[in-house]
Amino acid sequence: MSNFAYENLIVDIPDYPEPGVIFKDVTPLFADPQGLSAAVDAIATHFMGKGITKVVGAEARGFLIGAPVAYRLGAGFVPARKPGKLPREVYSQPYALEYGTDELQIHKDALNAHDKVLIVDDLVATGGTCVASGKLVEKTGAEVEGFAFLLELAFLKPREVVQKDFDKEIFSLITVD
Ligand code: PRP
Ligand code: MG
Repeated sequence: MSNFAYENLIVDIPDYPEPGVIFKDVTPLFADPQGLSAAVDAIATHFMGKGITKVVGAEARGFLIGAPVAYRLGAGFVPARKPGKLPREVYSQPYALEYGTDELQIHKDALNAHDKVLIVDDLVATGGTCVASGKLVEKTGAEVEGFAFLLELAFLKPREVVQKDFDKEIFSLITVD
């Protein structure tokens, strides 16, 4: 289903969460049985055979797509969570969002030097979230193998941001120029 029309299931919401921002609502894609299956399969198939041992997804929408991709790859899933949500020792990484700032945390013992990690999220906009996720992975001693997204807002040039810190593959199902 590589030619699945994902675009029809991603809805533009103007001026949300603030004026001037066009929010990309991916909930219809997740709600569509064929769309969800095609999206998960396309990402997992792309990274199959590359020795991925763990998928890292950032709270919250990275959980939605990251966990099924991990399952499909036969990998484990590790959450990068917003501050104060993880109960054991964590590494922390602040980052800038398209609108605002935030911080992500990961359990220190969730990954180790033997892990090859795919970072998965629904969307890459400025690149801040996935770079922070990648830096958290590196703090554990694990290796970032690549990045995968449902949607890349290419007009915000996130690849340039990601490539400053990571010389790794960036795979996006849909690119918005
Ligand atoms: C959204 C989206 C990505 C991030 C992309 O998450 O799910 O994680 O923004 O933007 P960036 O590339 O500019 O960092 P958000 O922080 O809005 O929170 P959510 O996943 O909890 O909805
Ligand atoms: Mg998110």
